[in-house]
Amino acid sequence: MKSAVLPGDGIGPEIVAEALKVLERLRGNGISIETEVAAIGGAGYDVAGQPLPEATLGLARQADAVLLGAVGGPRYDALPRELRPERGILAIRKALGLFANLRPALLYPELSDASTLKAEVVAGLDLMIVRELTGDIYFGQPRGRRSNAAGEAEGFDTMLYSASEIRRIARIGFEIARKRDRRLCSVDKANVLDTSILWREEVTAAAKGYPDVELSHMYVDNAAMQLVRNPRQFDVIVTGNLFGDILSDEASMLAGSIGMLPSASLDANNKGLYEPIHGSAPDIAGQNKANPLATILSLAMMFRYTFGRPDLGARIEGAVRKVLGAGLRTADIALAGGPSIGTRQMGDAVVSALSSYP
Ligand code: IPM
Ligand code: MG
Repeated sequence: MKSAVLPGDGIGPEIVAEALKVLERLRGNGISIETEVAAIGGAGYDVAGQPLPEATLGLARQADAVLLGAVGGPRYDALPRELRPERGILAIRKALGLFANLRPALLYPELSDASTLKAEVVAGLDLMIVRELTGDIYFGQPRGRRSNAAGEAEGFDTMLYSASEIRRIARIGFEIARKRDRRLCSVDKANVLDTSILWREEVTAAAKGYPDVELSHMYVDNAAMQLVRNPRQFDVIVTGNLFGDILSDEASMLAGSIGMLPSASLDANNKGLYEPIHGSAPDIAGQNKANPLATILSLAMMFRYTFGRPDLGARIEGAVRKVLGAGLRTADIALAGGPSIGTRQMGDAVVSALSSYP
Protein backbone atom coordinates (compact mmCIF):
# COMPACT_ATOMS: atom_id res chain seq x y z
CA MET A 1 0.00 0.00 0.00
CA LYS A 2 1.17 3.48 -0.78
CA SER A 3 0.03 6.82 0.52
CA ALA A 4 0.86 10.16 -1.05
CA VAL A 5 1.37 12.83 1.59
CA LEU A 6 0.58 16.42 0.59
CA PRO A 7 1.15 18.77 3.53
CA GLY A 8 0.25 21.96 1.64
CA ASP A 9 0.41 25.39 3.27
CA GLY A 10 -0.04 27.22 6.57
CA ILE A 11 -0.61 24.76 9.41
CA GLY A 12 -0.75 21.88 6.85
CA PRO A 13 2.84 20.66 7.38
CA GLU A 14 2.52 20.77 11.20
CA ILE A 15 -0.71 18.80 11.44
CA VAL A 16 0.36 16.26 8.81
CA ALA A 17 3.60 15.66 10.74
CA GLU A 18 1.53 14.60 13.76
CA ALA A 19 -0.62 12.24 11.69
CA LEU A 20 2.58 10.69 10.31
CA LYS A 21 3.80 10.06 13.86
CA VAL A 22 0.59 8.12 14.45
CA LEU A 23 1.07 6.17 11.21
CA GLU A 24 4.64 5.38 12.23
CA ARG A 25 3.45 4.07 15.60
CA LEU A 26 1.00 1.71 13.88
CA ARG A 27 3.62 0.08 11.70
CA GLY A 28 4.05 -3.60 12.32
CA ASN A 29 0.34 -4.35 12.72
CA GLY A 30 0.31 -6.44 9.60
CA ILE A 31 0.30 -3.35 7.43
CA SER A 32 3.05 -1.90 5.35
CA ILE A 33 2.32 1.56 4.09
CA GLU A 34 4.88 3.43 2.11
CA THR A 35 4.62 7.22 2.14
CA GLU A 36 5.90 9.81 -0.30
CA VAL A 37 5.63 13.57 0.15
CA ALA A 38 4.76 16.07 -2.61
CA ALA A 39 3.76 19.72 -2.90
CA ILE A 40 0.26 21.07 -3.43
CA GLY A 41 -1.44 24.47 -3.16
CA GLY A 42 0.79 27.47 -2.56
CA ALA A 43 3.69 25.09 -1.92
CA GLY A 44 3.09 23.61 -5.40
CA TYR A 45 3.05 27.07 -6.91
CA ASP A 46 6.35 27.87 -5.17
CA VAL A 47 8.18 24.78 -6.45
CA ALA A 48 6.54 24.23 -9.84
CA GLY A 49 4.50 27.32 -10.67
CA GLN A 50 1.24 25.38 -10.32
CA PRO A 51 -1.06 24.58 -7.40
CA LEU A 52 -1.21 20.95 -8.57
CA PRO A 53 2.20 20.11 -10.08
CA GLU A 54 2.32 17.25 -12.62
CA ALA A 55 4.61 15.25 -10.34
CA THR A 56 2.14 15.56 -7.46
CA LEU A 57 -0.78 14.41 -9.56
CA GLY A 58 1.32 11.53 -10.91
CA LEU A 59 2.18 10.42 -7.38
CA ALA A 60 -1.44 10.73 -6.24
CA ARG A 61 -2.60 8.66 -9.22
CA GLN A 62 -0.34 5.74 -8.41
CA ALA A 63 -0.91 5.87 -4.64
CA ASP A 64 -3.76 3.96 -2.97
CA ALA A 65 -4.58 6.91 -0.75
CA VAL A 66 -3.68 10.56 -0.30
CA LEU A 67 -3.26 12.39 3.01
CA LEU A 68 -3.65 16.14 2.62
CA GLY A 69 -3.08 18.95 5.12
CA ALA A 70 -4.54 22.26 3.99
CA VAL A 71 -3.88 24.86 1.32
CA GLY A 72 -3.95 28.63 0.97
CA GLY A 73 -2.38 31.72 2.43
CA PRO A 74 -2.26 35.49 2.08
CA ARG A 75 0.87 35.28 -0.08
CA TYR A 76 -1.20 33.68 -2.84
CA ASP A 77 -4.37 35.76 -2.56
CA ALA A 78 -3.54 38.01 -5.49
CA LEU A 79 -2.90 35.16 -7.95
CA PRO A 80 -5.39 34.59 -10.77
CA ARG A 81 -8.04 31.97 -9.93
CA GLU A 82 -6.37 29.19 -11.95
CA LEU A 83 -3.16 29.51 -9.92
CA ARG A 84 -4.67 29.91 -6.49
CA PRO A 85 -3.90 27.19 -3.91
CA GLU A 86 -7.59 26.15 -3.67
CA ARG A 87 -7.41 25.26 -7.34
CA GLY A 88 -4.93 22.50 -6.40
CA ILE A 89 -7.49 20.78 -4.19
CA LEU A 90 -10.32 21.17 -6.68
CA ALA A 91 -8.14 19.85 -9.51
CA ILE A 92 -6.96 16.77 -7.62
CA ARG A 93 -10.54 15.93 -6.58
CA LYS A 94 -11.67 16.19 -10.19
CA ALA A 95 -8.67 14.41 -11.74
CA LEU A 96 -8.97 11.44 -9.38
CA GLY A 97 -12.77 11.27 -9.67
CA LEU A 98 -13.24 11.66 -5.91
CA PHE A 99 -16.96 12.35 -6.09
CA ALA A 100 -18.05 11.16 -2.66
CA ASN A 101 -17.01 13.34 0.24
CA LEU A 102 -17.82 11.90 3.67
CA ARG A 103 -17.80 14.39 6.51
CA PRO A 104 -18.77 12.87 9.83
CA ALA A 105 -19.70 15.24 12.65
CA LEU A 106 -19.35 13.40 15.89
CA LEU A 107 -19.36 15.02 19.28
CA TYR A 108 -17.00 13.25 21.62
CA PRO A 109 -18.73 13.34 25.02
CA GLU A 110 -15.45 14.65 26.43
CA LEU A 111 -15.94 17.79 24.30
CA SER A 112 -19.57 18.61 25.03
CA ASP A 113 -18.37 21.80 26.70
CA ALA A 114 -16.38 22.97 23.66
CA SER A 115 -19.31 23.66 21.32
CA THR A 116 -20.77 27.13 21.25
CA LEU A 117 -24.19 25.45 21.34
CA LYS A 118 -25.85 24.34 24.57
CA ALA A 119 -24.57 20.96 25.74
CA GLU A 120 -28.10 19.49 25.76
CA VAL A 121 -28.57 20.38 22.07
CA VAL A 122 -25.39 18.70 20.87
CA ALA A 123 -25.00 15.83 23.36
CA GLY A 124 -24.90 12.52 21.50
CA LEU A 125 -24.47 14.17 18.10
CA ASP A 126 -23.43 11.68 15.42
CA LEU A 127 -24.24 12.66 11.87
CA MET A 128 -22.65 12.07 8.51
CA ILE A 129 -22.71 14.57 5.67
CA VAL A 130 -22.27 12.99 2.25
CA ARG A 131 -21.27 15.81 -0.07
CA GLU A 132 -21.02 15.43 -3.85
CA LEU A 133 -17.56 16.72 -4.70
CA THR A 134 -16.85 16.85 -8.42
CA GLY A 135 -19.91 18.58 -9.88
CA ASP A 136 -22.30 21.46 -9.20
CA ILE A 137 -21.51 25.16 -9.46
CA TYR A 138 -17.89 24.36 -8.52
CA PHE A 139 -17.24 22.89 -11.97
CA GLY A 140 -20.23 23.79 -14.17
CA GLN A 141 -19.60 25.53 -17.47
CA PRO A 142 -19.90 28.21 -18.68
CA ARG A 143 -18.44 30.43 -16.01
CA GLY A 144 -16.50 33.61 -16.08
CA ARG A 145 -16.67 37.36 -16.45
CA ARG A 146 -18.25 39.45 -19.15
CA SER A 147 -19.71 42.87 -19.79
CA ASN A 148 -23.44 43.29 -20.00
CA ALA A 149 -25.24 45.44 -22.58
CA ALA A 150 -24.77 48.51 -20.40
CA GLY A 151 -21.02 47.86 -20.26
CA GLU A 152 -21.12 46.81 -16.63
CA ALA A 153 -18.97 43.89 -15.42
CA GLU A 154 -20.78 40.63 -14.64
CA GLY A 155 -19.53 37.43 -13.01
CA PHE A 156 -21.36 34.15 -13.60
CA ASP A 157 -21.17 30.45 -12.69
CA THR A 158 -23.31 27.50 -13.72
CA MET A 159 -24.98 25.14 -11.28
CA LEU A 160 -25.22 21.84 -13.11
CA TYR A 161 -25.78 18.16 -12.30
CA SER A 162 -26.39 15.25 -14.61
CA ALA A 163 -28.83 12.53 -13.58
CA SER A 164 -26.03 9.96 -13.33
CA GLU A 165 -23.94 12.19 -11.06
CA ILE A 166 -26.92 12.58 -8.73
CA ARG A 167 -27.74 8.87 -8.75
CA ARG A 168 -24.21 7.75 -7.88
CA ILE A 169 -23.91 10.07 -4.87
CA ALA A 170 -27.45 9.17 -3.78
CA ARG A 171 -26.45 5.50 -3.78
CA ILE A 172 -23.45 6.28 -1.56
CA GLY A 173 -25.79 8.13 0.81
CA PHE A 174 -28.17 5.18 0.96
CA GLU A 175 -25.34 2.65 1.44
CA ILE A 176 -23.91 4.65 4.33
CA ALA A 177 -27.33 5.14 5.93
CA ARG A 178 -27.84 1.39 5.71
CA LYS A 179 -24.81 0.85 7.93
CA ARG A 180 -26.00 3.46 10.43
CA ASP A 181 -29.51 4.43 11.60
CA ARG A 182 -31.10 3.94 8.15
CA ARG A 183 -32.28 7.52 7.76
CA LEU A 184 -31.21 9.65 4.82
CA CYS A 185 -32.09 13.33 4.42
CA SER A 186 -31.50 14.77 0.95
CA VAL A 187 -30.87 18.53 1.02
CA ASP A 188 -31.66 20.71 -2.00
CA LYS A 189 -33.34 23.93 -3.07
CA ALA A 190 -36.05 22.36 -5.20
CA ASN A 191 -38.46 25.23 -4.52
CA VAL A 192 -36.25 27.50 -6.64
CA LEU A 193 -33.57 25.70 -8.68
CA ASP A 194 -34.01 23.43 -11.71
CA THR A 195 -30.83 21.59 -10.74
CA SER A 196 -32.47 20.75 -7.41
CA ILE A 197 -35.72 19.58 -9.00
CA LEU A 198 -33.74 17.01 -10.99
CA TRP A 199 -31.73 16.20 -7.83
CA ARG A 200 -34.91 15.42 -5.89
CA GLU A 201 -36.36 13.28 -8.71
CA GLU A 202 -33.18 11.22 -9.02
CA VAL A 203 -32.71 10.72 -5.28
CA THR A 204 -36.35 9.66 -5.01
CA ALA A 205 -35.87 7.18 -7.87
CA ALA A 206 -32.69 5.79 -6.26
CA ALA A 207 -34.64 5.20 -3.02
CA LYS A 208 -36.51 2.33 -4.70
CA GLY A 209 -33.36 0.23 -4.36
CA TYR A 210 -33.21 0.92 -0.61
CA PRO A 211 -36.64 0.21 0.89
CA ASP A 212 -35.00 -0.32 4.29
CA VAL A 213 -33.76 3.29 4.42
CA GLU A 214 -36.18 6.11 5.31
CA LEU A 215 -35.69 9.00 2.87
CA SER A 216 -36.67 12.60 3.61
CA HIS A 217 -36.07 15.85 1.72
CA MET A 218 -35.25 19.25 3.11
CA TYR A 219 -34.56 22.68 1.62
CA VAL A 220 -31.06 23.90 2.33
CA ASP A 221 -32.14 27.04 4.20
CA ASN A 222 -34.28 24.95 6.52
CA ALA A 223 -31.47 22.40 6.90
CA ALA A 224 -29.08 25.16 7.98
CA MET A 225 -31.61 26.19 10.62
CA GLN A 226 -32.44 22.63 11.75
CA LEU A 227 -28.74 21.84 12.19
CA VAL A 228 -28.47 24.32 15.03
CA ARG A 229 -32.04 23.88 16.31
CA ASN A 230 -32.03 20.09 16.67
CA PRO A 231 -29.01 18.46 15.01
CA ARG A 232 -29.75 15.01 16.41
CA GLN A 233 -32.74 14.65 14.09
CA PHE A 234 -30.21 13.84 11.33
CA ASP A 235 -28.49 10.55 10.65
CA VAL A 236 -27.08 10.89 7.11
CA ILE A 237 -27.41 14.01 4.96
CA VAL A 238 -26.74 13.78 1.22
CA THR A 239 -26.33 16.99 -0.74
CA GLY A 240 -24.58 18.76 -3.60
CA ASN A 241 -21.13 20.29 -3.62
CA LEU A 242 -21.95 23.88 -2.66
CA PHE A 243 -24.62 23.14 -0.06
CA GLY A 244 -22.37 20.43 1.43
CA ASP A 245 -19.45 22.84 1.68
CA ILE A 246 -21.54 25.26 3.72
CA LEU A 247 -23.45 22.77 5.87
CA SER A 248 -20.31 20.84 6.80
CA ASP A 249 -18.62 23.95 8.18
CA GLU A 250 -21.77 24.64 10.16
CA ALA A 251 -21.90 21.06 11.44
CA SER A 252 -18.28 21.26 12.57
CA MET A 253 -19.20 23.76 15.27
CA LEU A 254 -21.70 21.27 16.67
CA ALA A 255 -18.76 18.96 17.26
CA GLY A 256 -16.89 21.55 19.29
CA SER A 257 -14.37 22.86 16.80
CA ILE A 258 -13.63 22.77 13.13
CA GLY A 259 -10.26 21.44 14.30
CA MET A 260 -11.91 18.10 15.09
CA LEU A 261 -13.53 17.16 11.78
CA PRO A 262 -11.92 14.68 9.37
CA SER A 263 -13.07 13.85 5.87
CA ALA A 264 -12.71 11.20 3.21
CA SER A 265 -13.16 11.83 -0.51
CA LEU A 266 -13.66 8.57 -2.35
CA ASP A 267 -13.77 7.42 -5.96
CA ALA A 268 -15.84 4.50 -7.19
CA ASN A 269 -13.19 2.00 -5.96
CA ASN A 270 -12.57 3.37 -2.46
CA LYS A 271 -9.38 5.07 -3.42
CA GLY A 272 -9.45 8.09 -1.18
CA LEU A 273 -8.10 11.47 -0.32
CA TYR A 274 -8.19 12.18 3.40
CA GLU A 275 -8.04 15.67 4.83
CA PRO A 276 -9.29 17.75 7.74
CA ILE A 277 -12.20 19.94 6.70
CA HIS A 278 -10.57 23.06 8.10
CA GLY A 279 -8.29 25.42 6.21
CA SER A 280 -4.63 26.39 6.45
CA ALA A 281 -5.07 28.94 9.29
CA PRO A 282 -2.16 31.17 8.22
CA ASP A 283 -2.64 33.30 11.35
CA ILE A 284 -1.38 30.51 13.61
CA ALA A 285 0.92 28.68 11.16
CA GLY A 286 4.32 27.66 12.51
CA GLN A 287 3.38 28.46 16.10
CA ASN A 288 2.66 24.94 17.39
CA LYS A 289 -0.94 25.98 18.12
CA ALA A 290 -3.01 24.10 15.54
CA ASN A 291 -5.19 21.16 16.51
CA PRO A 292 -3.85 18.04 14.71
CA LEU A 293 -6.82 15.84 15.67
CA ALA A 294 -8.86 16.37 12.49
CA THR A 295 -5.86 15.17 10.46
CA ILE A 296 -5.20 12.26 12.80
CA LEU A 297 -8.89 11.30 12.56
CA SER A 298 -8.61 11.59 8.75
CA LEU A 299 -5.86 8.98 8.95
CA ALA A 300 -8.29 6.81 10.93
CA MET A 301 -10.76 7.15 8.04
CA MET A 302 -8.00 6.08 5.64
CA PHE A 303 -7.61 2.84 7.56
CA ARG A 304 -11.36 2.30 7.50
CA TYR A 305 -12.19 3.10 3.90
CA THR A 306 -9.09 2.52 1.77
CA PHE A 307 -6.94 0.09 3.73
CA GLY A 308 -9.83 -2.09 4.92
CA ARG A 309 -8.60 -1.95 8.52
CA PRO A 310 -11.51 -0.60 10.58
CA ASP A 311 -9.78 -2.10 13.64
CA LEU A 312 -6.86 0.31 13.27
CA GLY A 313 -9.24 3.19 12.52
CA ALA A 314 -11.08 2.43 15.74
CA ARG A 315 -7.79 2.22 17.59
CA ILE A 316 -6.80 5.73 16.50
CA GLU A 317 -10.24 7.07 17.38
CA GLY A 318 -10.03 5.36 20.76
CA ALA A 319 -6.66 6.98 21.42
CA VAL A 320 -8.09 10.41 20.54
CA ARG A 321 -10.97 9.88 22.97
CA LYS A 322 -8.57 8.82 25.65
CA VAL A 323 -6.48 11.95 25.23
CA LEU A 324 -9.57 14.17 25.33
CA GLY A 325 -10.84 12.22 28.34
CA ALA A 326 -7.58 13.02 30.11
CA GLY A 327 -8.43 16.71 29.61
CA LEU A 328 -5.73 17.46 27.05
CA ARG A 329 -6.81 20.30 24.75
CA THR A 330 -5.33 22.43 22.04
CA ALA A 331 -6.34 26.10 22.27
CA ASP A 332 -9.37 25.76 19.94
CA ILE A 333 -11.07 23.23 22.23
CA ALA A 334 -9.76 24.45 25.58
CA LEU A 335 -12.17 25.63 28.26
CA ALA A 336 -12.27 29.40 28.61
CA GLY A 337 -9.18 30.35 30.54
CA GLY A 338 -8.21 26.66 30.84
CA PRO A 339 -4.81 25.18 30.00
CA SER A 340 -3.92 24.11 26.51
CA ILE A 341 -1.15 22.17 24.82
CA GLY A 342 0.55 22.57 21.45
CA THR A 343 0.26 20.70 18.16
CA ARG A 344 3.28 18.44 18.81
CA GLN A 345 2.27 17.69 22.38
CA MET A 346 -1.20 16.67 21.17
CA GLY A 347 0.33 14.38 18.54
CA ASP A 348 2.65 12.84 21.14
CA ALA A 349 -0.26 12.32 23.52
CA VAL A 350 -2.22 10.41 20.86
CA VAL A 351 0.84 8.28 20.07
CA SER A 352 1.33 7.36 23.69
CA ALA A 353 -2.39 6.69 24.16
CA LEU A 354 -2.13 4.29 21.20
CA SER A 355 0.55 2.34 22.99
CA SER A 356 -1.66 1.71 25.99
CA TYR A 357 -4.88 1.26 24.08
CA PRO A 358 -5.65 -2.47 23.65
C1 IPM B 1 -13.54 22.42 1.68
C2 IPM B 1 -12.92 23.73 1.30
C3 IPM B 1 -12.70 23.74 -0.21
C4 IPM B 1 -14.05 23.66 -0.88
C5 IPM B 1 -11.87 24.93 -0.74
C6 IPM B 1 -10.54 25.05 -0.05
C7 IPM B 1 -11.70 24.86 -2.22
O1 IPM B 1 -13.70 24.78 1.75
O2 IPM B 1 -12.92 21.36 1.44
O3 IPM B 1 -14.64 22.43 2.23
O4 IPM B 1 -14.72 24.70 -1.07
O5 IPM B 1 -14.46 22.55 -1.22
MG1 MG C 1 -15.34 24.20 2.93
